[in-house]
Amino acid sequence: MTEKTVTITNNVDGTSHEYPLHEGTIGPPAVDISALYRDAGFFTYDPGFMATASCHSAITYIDGEHGVLLYRGYPIEQLATKASFLEVAYLLLYGELPNERELVSFERVITQHTMLNENLKNFLDGFHYDAHPMAILCGVVGSLSAFYHESIDVNDPHYREISAHRLIAKVPTIAAAAYKHNIGEPIMYPRNDLRYGANFLYMMFATPCEDYEPGLLAEKALNLLFILHADHEQNASTSTVRLAGSSGANPFACVAAGIASLWGPAHGGANEAVLDMLTQIGDVSSVPKFIDKAKDKDDPFRLMGFGHRVYKNYDPRAKIIREVCHQVLEEMPGADNPLFELALELEEIALHDEYFVERKLYPNVDFYSGIIYSALGIPRNMFTVMFAVARTVGWVSHWTEMMSDPGNRIGRPRQIYCGPEPRDYVPISKR
Ligand code: ACO
Repeated sequence: MTEKTVTITNNVDGTSHEYPLHEGTIGPPAVDISALYRDAGFFTYDPGFMATASCHSAITYIDGEHGVLLYRGYPIEQLATKASFLEVAYLLLYGELPNERELVSFERVITQHTMLNENLKNFLDGFHYDAHPMAILCGVVGSLSAFYHESIDVNDPHYREISAHRLIAKVPTIAAAAYKHNIGEPIMYPRNDLRYGANFLYMMFATPCEDYEPGLLAEKALNLLFILHADHEQNASTSTVRLAGSSGANPFACVAAGIASLWGPAHGGANEAVLDMLTQIGDVSSVPKFIDKAKDKDDPFRLMGFGHRVYKNYDPRAKIIREVCHQVLEEMPGADNPLFELALELEEIALHDEYFVERKLYPNVDFYSGIIYSALGIPRNMFTVMFAVARTVGWVSHWTEMMSDPGNRIGRPRQIYCGPEPRDYVPISKR
């Protein structure tokens, strides 16, 4: 079979060079321009990676035009309604759905790794009581690298697997501990008799003087939200984990870098920002005013939870979450219905507004997730932490895939230098 190529012609000097076209299983092909600078003497410029594939990956596929999301080929809608979070974690990490024996063994391994080294508590205690839980999560996950460094050989698949298991198991324990620190309650140790989601709710809401039995609906809702947030191919935080890891760095430090990237309001921080925005809007009558603000180019306000770099259609995850919102809010005592009604109204108006229609701006995964988290009793400053707990699975799956790829090279973008031309040092007395 002849390899497909693309010819790039330099209209300035008239030279042409051929470059191989890489085709995936589905989705648009990519021109391999890695030899372009050697051949033609120029770089490509693509800030924000609008049209640049940074790797080959077999984990997740998104068709943004049609609102399709597949994990290892399985539609998100099927996984969200039929699978457990750890089943999906296994799928993302190993490439296939587990059989019963494999799932039981995976659940056991993850459960066995949920405890933290007691010394980690000292790190937690060092944080001020009002530290944002994302700051605590980032710092404490990064500090895990100090506990697991000498023993880890990132080039050995066995150690990579143990690191992935430790991260999937320990990030929820650290996340719940960050919350407890924030509210001044003692940290709750994980319970190995509970399932992944139920254990997380227990660590969040039990206290040494009062037990807590996680309700089935809450556990089910959490399972679904975790599945929907588990992976999303080369998003900012995952690309950060890959870039940090490409130098052979410690995986716990790489995941801390991913957490830092996730925190921003343009990425995972949007779920917290959505509820702040809805509270600020306050009432359906104020929606038009905020829609106008979002459209005003002189106003920095954006409709949080709207728009996506890849989806130019309804985010399939938002569609699923919106449906579950109805169920959770109907069945959960004390759930915040007015905010949901406000969100529905805002969506309705935005979806019919020319500005949003023209730019193909639809609700994304974060538009409705905070409403469910609130209904589960999870405070706003923990929303992005919840995202991080779920996305840890994606991060470790991508890190593992990259580290097992013999073609992996250190990530090192080029630049267009726009600084001063060469000049001589001027002694301080003459400046
Ligand atoms: N409100 C108002 N206008 C918007 C919004 C929004 N939420 N999102 C995009 N636009 C406008 C831009 O101003 C721009 O308009 P222009 O063409 O007239 O200049 C156009 O739509 C394209 O937007 P870009 O910012 O160029 O798109 P990009 O792909 O760079 O950004 C992003 C995507 C960051 C998600 C953006 O839509 C945004 O800021 N949304 C709000 C924050 C948010 O919800 N983030 C969560 C993303 S999902 C996730 O990470 C889990």
